[in-house]
Amino acid sequence: MPDTRIVPVGVVSSPFKERGDAPRQGRLTDELSKITIFPEFADALLGLSAGDDIFIFCWFDRADRSILQTHIGGDESRPIKGVFALRSPVRPNPISLTLVKLVQIERNILTVKGLEALDGTPVVDIKPYSEQFDIPGKE
Ligand SMILES: C[S@@+](CC[C@H](N)C(=O)[O-])C[C@H]1O[C@@H](n2cnc3c(N)ncnc32)[C@H](O)[C@@H]1O
Repeated sequence: MPDTRIVPVGVVSSPFKERGDAPRQGRLTDELSKITIFPEFADALLGLSAGDDIFIFCWFDRADRSILQTHIGGDESRPIKGVFALRSPVRPNPISLTLVKLVQIERNILTVKGLEALDGTPVVDIKPYSEQFDIPGKE
């Protein structure tokens, strides 16, 4: 297999200290979080501006990586599903995907709205949202 090691590019500072503090999805909160991009990756921020919609990919470091099937939100009244059919944090590679609003960008510090990651969560990538590419069924 090729080398698939992931290098964190930054870290989240968030008001959510423990799992129970965070909403299930970022869009359920108006709380602001900060993402500090490590200086060696700061050049990759060129072109981002306040007001942009961006996808944040985190490495959910406190997630259980051994679980392949679960109930949504741990609710046993709901059907069990494979984690590839769910947005659960538990999965073999705990990569999360959240669409957030970039509220402010100052050098290598991003302030974002709508991120549900816990304080200290590693960030592994950022990509811009694209109406052209991200709306299903659109040519
Ligand atoms: C249901 S997941 C959704 C994540 C992302 N929006 C997605 O769809 O990939 C969000 C939950 O993950 C949990 N979580 C947040 N940061 C985490 C971390 N660093 N490690 C483990 N779990 C985390 C919180 O309980 C939060 O409510």
